[in-house]
Amino acid sequence: MTTIGIIGAGEVGSQIARAAIANSYEIVIANSRGPETLNGLIDELGRRARAASAADAAAAGDFVIIAVPLSRVNDMPAAELAGKIVLDTNNYMSWRDGHFVRVDSGETTVHELRQEQLPASKVAKAFTHIQAPSLLSTSRPAGDPARRALSVSSDFPEAVELVTRLYDQFGFDTVDNSPLSESWRSAPGQPAWIDHARQNREELALNLRRAVPVFPT
Ligand SMILES: NC(=O)c1ccc[n+]([C@@H]2O[C@H](COP(=O)([O-])OP(=O)(O)OC[C@H]3O[C@@H](n4cnc5c(N)ncnc54)[C@H](OP(=O)(O)O)[C@@H]3O)[C@@H](O)[C@H]2O)c1
Repeated sequence: MTTIGIIGAGEVGSQIARAAIANSYEIVIANSRGPETLNGLIDELGRRARAASAADAAAAGDFVIIAVPLSRVNDMPAAELAGKIVLDTNNYMSWRDGHFVRVDSGETTVHELRQEQLPASKVAKAFTHIQAPSLLSTSRPAGDPARRALSVSSDFPEAVELVTRLYDQFGFDTVDNSPLSESWRSAPGQPAWIDHARQNREELALNLRRAVPVFPT
């Protein structure tokens, strides 16, 4: 049985947890306020789910998903995440997250920043351009003409392979937008982001190519 550690139990973390349980994973999930505040979610998810601290969720996961806004970029349990594939769902929104000068200048991307923060982990940008409730409501079997595609970016092929398998299990196709230095192409405001609700694989690949760098002021 594969265990997914999930750090962040808000809109995205809780929906990924529901999708993971529906696909026979075990999950260990954390928020910032402590496991006891997640009793309602754990009751809903059932016996294959438990709540923990962020460090315990990181340690328990065969791989780990960070579903925490970027403003907490320095706050993740790096030691427990070492050696693991880490999927990061964050979208950089300066009105919410504050300004990251190196990202704003185009020197780096937010997910390269996360990779810097977690040097012993294999970071992948994943699940960033789908509204959380759509993870369950728009899932489709392979080959369905209405099946949506999601992008993944990573510097590690094994992380791309894992995300591709996970997307497929969850009911989505994949477009590989690696390496992490290209991950800005699916950022908020880009065509792949704006059209997120209705892209198949070909449309998403085209939208990723149409992206133009934007530097927030
Ligand atoms: N919402 C969407 O549809 C969506 C879709 C794709 C991507 N995203 C991106 O994914 C990220 C998360 O979004 P969200 O909407 O899920 O946010 P959210 O609903 O605000 O949830 C954030 C979660 O992170 C937890 N958290 C914060 N700091 C933490 C820490 N240090 N350790 C452990 N947990 C911590 C919070 O716990 P507490 O509540 O206890 O503080 C909360 O459970 C954002 O960057 C967002 O842009 C969102």
